[in-house]
Amino acid sequence: MKVDREIMQTLSVGLGERSYPIHIGNGLLDRAELLQAHVPRKRVAIVTNTTVAPLYLARLQHTLQAVGVSSVTVILLDGEEYKNADTLNMIYDALLKNRCERSTPLIALGGGVIGDMTGFAAATYLRGVPFIQIPTTLLAQVDSSVGGKTGINHPLGKNMIGAFYQPQLVLADTATLNTLPDNELAAGMAEVIKYGLIRDLPFLEWLEQNMDKLLARDTAALQYAIARSCRNKADVVAADERESGERALLNLGHTFGHAIESGMGYGVWLHGEGVAAGTIMAADLSQRLGWIDAQDVARIRKLFERAGLPVVAPDLGADKYLELMGLDKKVEGGKMRFVLLRQVGRAVVYGDVPPALLQQTLQACVHG
Ligand code: NAD
Ligand code: GLY
Repeated sequence: MKVDREIMQTLSVGLGERSYPIHIGNGLLDRAELLQAHVPRKRVAIVTNTTVAPLYLARLQHTLQAVGVSSVTVILLDGEEYKNADTLNMIYDALLKNRCERSTPLIALGGGVIGDMTGFAAATYLRGVPFIQIPTTLLAQVDSSVGGKTGINHPLGKNMIGAFYQPQLVLADTATLNTLPDNELAAGMAEVIKYGLIRDLPFLEWLEQNMDKLLARDTAALQYAIARSCRNKADVVAADERESGERALLNLGHTFGHAIESGMGYGVWLHGEGVAAGTIMAADLSQRLGWIDAQDVARIRKLFERAGLPVVAPDLGADKYLELMGLDKKVEGGKMRFVLLRQVGRAVVYGDVPPALLQQTLQACVHG
């Protein structure tokens, strides 16, 4: 990890000629020089939403104007329920009306919803335009802005329509987290904990020791957790960009979590909340397979609870869970595959879960 300045850390996602930097630090929205090199034609399109625009849009525009860059802005309605084809079309409409060209970068200013949709617009508008991520939620800073998964939801399944399309730059200004509601900070923490559980046991132990500092928004602790999460994600993405193997491990808790999100109706459970309850289900199933023990499951549950996250899933009914999980992107040849814990700190993808054990997990982990 390279420390450029006291207040900024820079990591790299190593993808050959498509490699890009992730800058993490306090106040980066004011640092025009970090953006300048990526805007040769002095014009960008900024996509954001009705919540983030009043907080940070003027500041970003001011930073860009200071180096002679003008901006087209697209302000979308806020919410997971708007992460769909209609909203995507509004981005295309605005880009076309404003005659944005192939050289006009799209900047996503917001959380994962804005990042995923803007990235997909960038991948597809004029068959691809430059893309910059400025994530403003913890979840987006530790996960969704890195790695190039972009897309929208379909009424039949979450993130079902999309593309792999890497940004040229990720700029994570940790100061933006000061305005984030507590439940959104907690939702991001679910993905932070995920890295510890799947591949970084020392980080999990650090999180157990520092969760209170993180929830109190201690700047140094947050910056450390964001950088360490991004390092984990960048390493996985560099090894397996298109998810033919290791990258699937980043979906710990997501098979159950996506079923919760879409089963409850998008926007009712936050993504991170679904991941938290879904990870407890994955841990329960791992225990039923004899891979981890009850103490391990209790340890994981405790950390999610301390982060303020739900650990009991909603009762959609076992059949509904099975139907929704059957739509998961990891299904291969009709067979459900789960990310499970071989041990705490080491996840695997497993396709041979006995149906009876899955039923037991679905009965044990939901409440009606
Ligand atoms: P989000 O984008 O809905 O943001 C959460 C809320 O916080 C929204 O209301 C948003 O407007 C608001 N907000 C954003 N920044 C703020 C700030 N600084 N201050 C105050 N409010 C702010 O949700 P999210 O948790 O950031 O992202 C969830 C999405 O990310 C889901 O759609 C999920 O599928 C996706 N995701 C994608 C990947 C990936 O690899 N592409 C990974 C994980 C999650
Ligand atoms: N969030 C899962 C991934 O990026 O692969």
